[in-house]
Amino acid sequence: MKSPVKSELLKRLFAAQGEPISGQDIADEFGLSRTAIWKYIKELEEEGYEIGSQRKKGYYLIDAPDLVNQGNITEYLTTERYGRIIKYFTTVPTTQTIAHEDAQNGAQDGTLVIAEEQTAGKGRLARPWTSKANRGIWMSLIIRPDLAPQYAPQLTLVAAVAIVRAIEEVADIQPVIKWPNDILINGKKVTGILTELQSDPDRVKAIILGMGINANQQQSDFPEELQMIATSLRIEKGEMIDRAQLVAAILKYLEQYTDLYVEKGFAPIKILWESYAAITGKNIKASMVHETVEGIALGISHDGMLELQLADGTVRGIYSADIEI
Ligand code: BTN
Repeated sequence: MKSPVKSELLKRLFAAQGEPISGQDIADEFGLSRTAIWKYIKELEEEGYEIGSQRKKGYYLIDAPDLVNQGNITEYLTTERYGRIIKYFTTVPTTQTIAHEDAQNGAQDGTLVIAEEQTAGKGRLARPWTSKANRGIWMSLIIRPDLAPQYAPQLTLVAAVAIVRAIEEVADIQPVIKWPNDILINGKKVTGILTELQSDPDRVKAIILGMGINANQQQSDFPEELQMIATSLRIEKGEMIDRAQLVAAILKYLEQYTDLYVEKGFAPIKILWESYAAITGKNIKASMVHETVEGIALGISHDGMLELQLADGTVRGIYSADIEI
């Protein structure tokens, strides 16, 4: 974590857009010496920021590294609550555990835990999630919507729609959603969402929205067993994307759609979700813990269940399953 003075310094360097900011003014404001400010500047340079200095005028930002840190994300951030507190790490086992602990310790709605690398990334159904350093977006958002716990799974669908919108906007690529939480491009997985819950019997305390987005990997960055089924935005678009910009866009749509959902219910989200769904009208196989069923996907119900029409014509609502198309 950055010290508050260093974060403030970075924020002002970004806000000044290449113009110099006075080291003396910041030193005075925080009751520090100019040497202390200079040390923070040196630390930022060690982290990859290129900073110039002009005699009598101060420090100015020349270039920032492609990191998903607070400074780079904040530069693009337009939200009110989501991402206004960011806990950034270079490497962690998994951002989910940190977010769970923070939520238990009272972290505020919209707190984001994000890392350049995860060494023990968690997928759904206790599967591992490959999280190569500096290539993808590995983040867990703590949200505190006023909801009964049975509605929490719908937030996965809200998140899927928000991520698709953000990818369209930032990368100009059209992904599709595979129920409930996979985002695909050309049939390969580009994003996974893991929704976890902290709850009282009748009210959600916090939802931890874990999102893994394959952004700038090349094919060889994926382990062999994933190469046929996973892809990245860079592979699909043929150029690198600005991860910090994508994070900010995801947070923007997440805040917008979560607020819409809390205010108006699932109906408007359902319309958006179905417009992006990859499976409507297709014959699919849904594997659950104790059984596997096959049928035609009709869409999702008013509360987010997958509706399958079975061979005998009956319609079966599916709450959670692995889907094969
Ligand atoms: C899936 O299985 O499709 C869900 C993958 C979720 C991965 C993300 S990456 C950030 C967060 N931290 C984790 O360990 N998992 C989630």
